[in-house]
Amino acid sequence: MIFYPDNTLIMAPLSGFTDLPYRRSLRRHGCYYAFTEMIDAGSLAYSNPNVPRMLSRGEEEPWLGVQLVGADEAMLLKSVEVLNTYHFDLLDFNLGCPVPKVAKKGAGAVLGRKTDEAARLLELLVKHSRIPVTAKTRIVSEDDPEQTVRLARKLEDAGAQTLTIHGRIKERVYSGPVFHDIIAEVRKAVKIPVVANGGIVNRASWEDALCRSGCTVAMAARGAMGNPWLFDEVRDPDHRPPTLDELADEIALHIGEMTIFYGDEAGFRIARKVVLDYLRGRRFPGALRNRVSFLKSHTDLNEILDEVRQPAAAGRQTGFSPDGIGV
Ligand SMILES: Cc1cc2nc3c(=O)[nH]c(=O)nc-3n(C[C@H](O)[C@H](O)[C@H](O)COP(=O)(O)O)c2cc1C
Repeated sequence: MIFYPDNTLIMAPLSGFTDLPYRRSLRRHGCYYAFTEMIDAGSLAYSNPNVPRMLSRGEEEPWLGVQLVGADEAMLLKSVEVLNTYHFDLLDFNLGCPVPKVAKKGAGAVLGRKTDEAARLLELLVKHSRIPVTAKTRIVSEDDPEQTVRLARKLEDAGAQTLTIHGRIKERVYSGPVFHDIIAEVRKAVKIPVVANGGIVNRASWEDALCRSGCTVAMAARGAMGNPWLFDEVRDPDHRPPTLDELADEIALHIGEMTIFYGDEAGFRIARKVVLDYLRGRRFPGALRNRVSFLKSHTDLNEILDEVRQPAAAGRQTGFSPDGIGV
């Protein structure tokens, strides 16, 4: 069974984000447990050319989980075969993703609602994977904890070694309150560790999630996007927000690594959303964010970072106040 140490904050898999340069940035700030981006079983089975990059692990990465999504038995089996040739610490089965691309294949959150089928497929992964298998899912209902408890028990019986529960139903996607009380019911009902997920944006909301769910481990997602300092803050209550120079330095390192990882053209294109996240909630002017939308060269990046480093204009802050993530 996997026991994450008490009071750990894990980083969530984030599709389109948690690639190797992203995780390196998180790790610079103390993140130990991290995941690849979610990988589609079909892409693995059919050797999509992006797969090796999506599965790449840095030599310095101390621990890395891979997350798999899919609902087709044959593809899942083929993907485990492929994943068995790589070096990961665990295999997480996605039963919570609500996006249409995944839902139309009956995978992710749609599969999470089909308790018996989800458990059957997870059992298959457990049987064939050479590394431990876990699941990440959502609460099934906001009104009836028993439905989520039933799913959790089935997944436990099928061999899941931990369960991460996002405390929102699939219809809410990523907004609305996080039902930590339902996560607490699940935790009490199963023997395997349960990881609480949803709404963690700072040390206070991390403590609140642990306290209300009774879990000893939680998982951050949007609260760490553009804010790897969340991991510093959780380890050290006195950790101060980054200065403007530290913010600019982190962006420079992160995006520099992206251009090495993807090449300049794709690197800068993918980097735009990443840079926007770093600027979000920090009251930078709209004109600067607009420029980021056209980022395509090292010169552009340096000019943007020169502006980021400017001494704070009235009201500008380096503390992070994301909207709409917390409860
Ligand atoms: C951009 C984005 C990408 C995501 N990708 C994944 C993913 O690949 N796998 C997964 O299990 N969850 C994914 N999630 C969901 C998060 O892991 C997390 O469960 C959710 O955001 C709730 O946590 P939060 O309120 O702290 O953000 C994604 C969320 C976002 C916003």
